[in-house]
Amino acid sequence: MKHIFQKGKDSSRPTLLLLHGTGGNELDLLPLAGMIDDRASILSVRGNVLENGMPRFFRRLAEGVFDIEDLIYRTKELNDFLDEAAQKYEFDRNAILAIGYSNGANIAASLLFHYQNALSGAILHHPMVPRRGIDLPDLSGKAVFISAGTNDPICPQEESIELESLLTQANAKVEMHWENRGHQLTIDEVNAAAAWYKETYLGGK
Ligand code: MLT
Repeated sequence: MKHIFQKGKDSSRPTLLLLHGTGGNELDLLPLAGMIDDRASILSVRGNVLENGMPRFFRRLAEGVFDIEDLIYRTKELNDFLDEAAQKYEFDRNAILAIGYSNGANIAASLLFHYQNALSGAILHHPMVPRRGIDLPDLSGKAVFISAGTNDPICPQEESIELESLLTQANAKVEMHWENRGHQLTIDEVNAAAAWYKETYLGGK
């Protein structure tokens, strides 16, 4: 998959896996990574699907209606890519923290739904429930931060709450952050994610 890897100064930090929103690319979230942890390695990936020229991580049939077959295929493709990248760039495959926005948050959630060891944790900005009616793997030990908008037209409040509940039932430790906004990524939610990261990964330092 097309990507950027930047080796961090501190190999004890998790590798930050950056996953852009629809129409974005691997450059979009680089500034965000610096705000979360400027000493961590970064792996930023471009989605392999094109929707009218806009990169995405999986196909959709309509706004909010996912092509589940393609979602499953693309989730495996990304998980396999993480295996290869960890070998190639020599980072710890068991210490990957995804940071995703919108469509990127949805594929990150899908990695958690389908693979027990794909990620060690995730920061999900405006995610949806990627898939319903399946048993999730045991996500004990995984930390997940979700930020959502109370007026998000793409992801209604109930859906964010449903995602929080599905991940919690699978034993993930989930923190939920609300913004009185829509689907846009705000500086306040990034700051909240950075505070959560410091507490969760760096013991508050
Ligand atoms: C999706 O298709 O993943 C969601 O609707 C979010 C987006 O617009 O990308």
